[in-house]
Amino acid sequence: MRNKKILITAGPTYEKIDPVRFIGNFSSGKMGYAIAEAAAEQGAEVILISGPTKINISHPNINKIDIVSAAEMYNETIDNFPDVDIAVMCAAVADFTPETCFESKQKRGEEDLIIRLKPTKDIAQAVGKLKKESQVLVGFALETNDEIKNAEKKLEKKNLDFIVLNSLNDKGAGFQTDTNKISIIKRNNTKINYDLKPKTEVAEDIIEQITKCLS
Ligand code: C5P
Repeated sequence: MRNKKILITAGPTYEKIDPVRFIGNFSSGKMGYAIAEAAAEQGAEVILISGPTKINISHPNINKIDIVSAAEMYNETIDNFPDVDIAVMCAAVADFTPETCFESKQKRGEEDLIIRLKPTKDIAQAVGKLKKESQVLVGFALETNDEIKNAEKKLEKKNLDFIVLNSLNDKGAGFQTDTNKISIIKRNNTKINYDLKPKTEVAEDIIEQITKCLS
């Protein structure tokens, strides 16, 4: 990974409803941060574009850019992507955001509160359209059903080199945990299944596959 530049998106995004409330998700950022740390350790220059997390990270090779919303993550990713060799889309980006953010805190009343949501932009897909031959793009899929079929569709749609599939059905995998159980699905339909292991080791497995794409 020496002399390589890698961009990693990590963590959740928060979509504001009013000045004190947001729509978010349970992503801890642990997987993305583990990839950032492993890549930096192996000599890469890392741009970590992160939503709000509780993780501290300080490695001289990591330049962390903090964002809050999906729109901010989109802008930072698109700005930085042309300069990198590799991009790993690990963030749990909100798929919907409130059409408008209330200017003041909404008070409880007798009436239902209706919030209209509009879809966010798919960052991975946008990056997939910009991708040059020399660049490697990796995505993640967290599925609850038809896992492989859905992951393969995303691989194609987002123009990824490979997709990391983790299932909510596997114990110890997914959000908040320190461990993960992944499968990697490549463009040539090969699938590698890994055992449940610490996210630090999962990160190394992912980087090993990235280096294979680079060579
Ligand atoms: O389509 P789905 O959200 O399941 O795809 C997951 C993959 O796409 C992940 O790599 C995730 O980081 C990325 N993604 C994105 N922007 C979005 C939604 C998902 O980059 N708005």
